[in-house]
Formats: sequence, C-alpha cells, structure tokens
Amino acid sequence: MIRPLLILVASTTGAHAAVVAADSGRGERLFESLSCVQCHSVNGKGGHVAADLGRRIDRNFTPAALASTMWNHAPTMWTAMRDREIRAGDLDQQAAADLFAYFYSARFFDKPGDAGRGKRLFSERACGRCHGLTESIKPGVNPVSQWAALGDPIALTEAMWNHAPNMFVEFKLKEIAWPELSGQDLSDLLVYLRNLPSTREKPGAFKTSTGANGEALFTSKGCVGCHRSGSSLAPEIKGRTLTQIAAAMWNHAPKMPARPAHFDTGEMRELLSYLWARQFFEDSGNAERGKRVFNSKHCATCHNDASSGAPKLTGVQRSFTGAVMVSALWHHGPRMLDQMKSRAISWPRFDGREMSDLIAFLNSGNEEK
Ligand code: HEC
Ligand code: HEC
Ligand code: HEC
Ligand code: HEC
Repeated sequence: MIRPLLILVASTTGAHAAVVAADSGRGERLFESLSCVQCHSVNGKGGHVAADLGRRIDRNFTPAALASTMWNHAPTMWTAMRDREIRAGDLDQQAAADLFAYFYSARFFDKPGDAGRGKRLFSERACGRCHGLTESIKPGVNPVSQWAALGDPIALTEAMWNHAPNMFVEFKLKEIAWPELSGQDLSDLLVYLRNLPSTREKPGAFKTSTGANGEALFTSKGCVGCHRSGSSLAPEIKGRTLTQIAAAMWNHAPKMPARPAHFDTGEMRELLSYLWARQFFEDSGNAERGKRVFNSKHCATCHNDASSGAPKLTGVQRSFTGAVMVSALWHHGPRMLDQMKSRAISWPRFDGREMSDLIAFLNSGNEEK
C-alpha cells in the first residue's frame, strides 16, 4: 500500500524560494519507472548494485543533501548504467522532489521503536492506571483496543491532545504528574500498542500533508497566543522529526488554557507538517560561502564563459533548489563531465553544507565579480 507523504520542498528562503509539493506515493512509483530500483534498494527492497538509499537518511537529510550525494556519485553511476545497458528515465524537478519524499517516508518506520520498551512505558507513565488494553477499567475511559488513532504518532497525538483537558482532571484527582514523552517514547508506545492481539489488524500509515493550511491553523488554534508565528518556532524544532514535534505538543498540553482548541481529524497533521516543513525553508545556505564553492569547484570556469556553451547561472532570475540541482545533474551532467574531462577539471564533490551554500549563492542573484 502506498502511503503518501506530501511535503513542501524548498531549499532557500526569500523571494526565490520555489516550492514544490512532493508526494511520496509518486516517488515510490518513480523509483521503479525510472529504473533506480534495478540497482538500488530502499530498506532492503530492490537491486543491490549500489547503496540502499533508505540508509542515507538522517537528521540532516534535506533535498540539498540528496542533490549533493547524487552529484558526488554520478560519474560512477553513469558508468554502471552504461555497463548494464540501463537507461534511467527522465528526472525532472518534480520527480526529484517526489523521490526525496519517498526516501524520507520509507525511512520513517525504519527504526519503529521497541515494543518491549513501549510496554514498560505504558505502565511507568501511568497510562495503564486509567486505560485497560481490551477492557475499560474506568467508566468513560476507552481501552486501547477502542482507540481510533493508532495509525501513526500524529493521529495518536491528535487524539491525546483532544482528550487532554479531561485527562488532566483525572491526573489531578489521582495526583499523577503529567507524563512527558519524547519522540522515541511515542514511537515505542505506538509499536507496543499497535501489536497487541486486539489492535494488530488496524492499518498503520505515516503521512504528512502539504501543510498548506498550517499557517491558518496556527492562528485559529490559538498558538499565536504564545508564539509569534510558525517561523518563530523554526529554530526550536530544527532537525527534529515529526514524531518529536508531536511529542512536544503533548508535553505542553498542560500549559494550554483550560479549553484548548479542538482538532478535527487531520488538522494536527496539517499543522505539524507545516511546522516541520519549515526546516526545509530555513535550510538556507550561506551565499558568501556558496560563492567560494562556485569558484573553487570550477563552476565559474565554464558558466561564466559564454564560449564554453555553459549557460549563465549567476545573476539570472531563476530559482535553484535541491530538486532543481538533481534534475540539472540528470539532464546536463554527462555533457558537463565530457567537457570537464577535456579541460582536465576533476568532477566536483560536495561535502556537508556546500550544496546548500551553492544554492543560496545561485539564488542571491549576485553577479560574479
Ligand atoms: C545502473 C545502476 C544504477 C541506476 C539505474 C541508478 N543508480 Fe544510483 N548509483 C549507482 C551506483 C553504482 C552508485 C554508487 C556510485 C559510487 O560509488 O560513487 C550510485 C549512487 C547513488 C546515490 C548516492 C548514494 C550514496 O552512496 O550516498 C544516489 C542518491 C543515487 N545513486 C540515486 C539514484 C536514483 C534516484 C536513481 C534513479 C533515478 C539511480 N540512482 C539509478 C548505480 C545506479
Ligand atoms: C489519570 C487517568 C489517565 C491516565 C494516567 C492516562 N489517561 Fe488517557 N485518557 C483518560 C481519560 C479520562 C480519557 C478520556 C477523556 C475524554 O473523554 O475526553 C483519556 C483518553 C485518552 C485517549 C483518547 C482515546 C480515544 O477514545 O480515542 C488517548 C489516545 C489516551 N488517553 C492516551 C493516553 C496515554 C498514551 C497515556 C499515558 C501516557 C494516558 N492516556 C494516560 C485518562 C487517563
Ligand atoms: C499558553 C501558551 C502557549 C500556547 C497557547 C501554545 N504554546 Fe507552544 N510553547 C509554549 C511554551 C511556554 C513553550 C516552551 C517549551 C515548553 O516549556 O514546553 C512552547 C513550545 C512549543 C514548541 C517547541 C517545543 C520544544 O520542545 O521546543 C512547539 C513545536 C510548540 N510550542 C507548538 C505550539 C503549537 C502548534 C501551538 C498551538 C496548537 C502552541 N504551541 C500553543 C507555550 C504555548
Ligand atoms: C567544464 C565546463 C563546466 C563546468 C566546470 C561546470 N559546468 Fe555546469 N554545465 C556545463 C555545460 C556545457 C552545461 C550545459 C550542458 C547541456 O546543455 O546539456 C552545463 C549545465 C549546468 C546546469 C544546468 C543549467 C540549466 O540551464 O538548467 C547546471 C545547474 C550546472 N551546469 C551547474 C554546474 C555547477 C554547480 C558546477 C560546479 C560544481 C558546474 N556546472 C561546472 C559545463 C560546465
């Protein structure tokens, strides 16, 4: 079953930011139709000629990071394709964004948590004092088998948030402190609760939505009462997973006014997707450093010399993103490589933030001096 992950993918801030709504379901299909699957696997499924692309994903995985590893490995990859007579399909900007979303979502449940730890947490964090697993142990308090929201951590958080005011009353009565949860706690609890005999049949899914209504929800749910804006939270949630942000929501539920806003189904996902996707917007590189990358990797040698046939990249009104850099590599890379060889320029490799910095430079509209 395809589980769509819809996120906004962009690599820069400011007027140049090009936003593409990426869809992990499409990405999964592209992974096959573009032949990537013949050589690569994702979490073990697929070919074994080259790296498992699910393994690459860590906290620093952004569209720019995908672009950077693809640039680094492209010449070897092209040789592998020639040797095997595999023609990979067209990789445009949308396809690159969709593939990014697929790699990201495929990895989401890769370390799904530890059911044993989840079981311990269920009793240590007092959940089991009010909630039975299959039978109600308190009138009006549903046992786990009747929780609708066991699909993924965000749905669970949404349910917990909506019930928090009444839970809070019970906690007070029983003199139980509000149990704080980390992202890992939430995953572990979920894995445990999803694998009980009574819940095992329920479908699981990890989805994020486009976050397009996130900003409106941020206002209508009263977040603006204490936070200036979604962007103002960006530094705090930088590098966090969606599950960690969901856990943060639960943790500060008791700080909310007595009647916090109710979330309709899907709204929590929309709001958190919006907050989470900010980090891709905030992933702006440093244009000054990017300029040095542009020169030291010899991009300027050809791209500032019209006679080379390389198009001008600086000072042009264009948006560059990680996805654009992936598709440019795909479309123009082999010709660039030929030209580099004839000029004895070695193929550029990108470390760390160099690709983000380069993208920021290309978007800054700075003329090369
Ligand atoms: C013919 C085999 C082949 C096909 C098809 C192929 N690749 Fe590769 N790919 C390779 C090889 C080989 C490497 C490793 C190159 C190296 O070691 O430098 C690689 C490396 C990569 C890397 C860097 C992985 C790392 O080590 O971090 C990425 C990302 C990648 N490929 C993405 C793709 C995508 C996306 C597609 C489909 C559009 C694709 N590849 C299609 C053979 C292939
Ligand atoms: C002190 C008692 C108490 C404890 C401890 C407690 N809950 Fe609850 N919980 C409640 C009550 C009461 C409700 C129903 C509230 C309502 O109707 O709004 C509820 C509702 C829920 C719901 C919504 C269930 C549904 O019907 O869909 C979820 C999910 C939930 N709790 C999760 C948890 C988790 C996870 C823990 C442990 C971290 C926990 N609860 C600990 C009392 C408690
Ligand atoms: C009553 C004030 C208040 C309201 C309303 C509020 N928050 Fe917060 N929020 C805080 C405080 C205080 C913190 C600092 C972290 C803490 O102590 O929990 C925080 C932290 C956060 C964090 C970062 C958590 C972390 O661990 O760093 C996120 C994300 C967040 N809030 C989201 C929201 C969203 C989304 C809403 C609207 C549904 C919201 N907040 C409404 C007071 C509030
Ligand atoms: C040896 C010359 C040469 C070097 C060095 C070079 N390029 Fe290119 N580049 C070209 C040529 C020629 C094209 C056009 C290829 C084609 O038409 O298929 C091109 C195309 C591109 C494109 C696609 C432009 C478009 O209009 O979509 C991008 C992006 C790009 N290069 C980025 C870079 C970056 C970044 C560097 C440095 C890391 C670099 N190039 C280094 C020759 C070069």
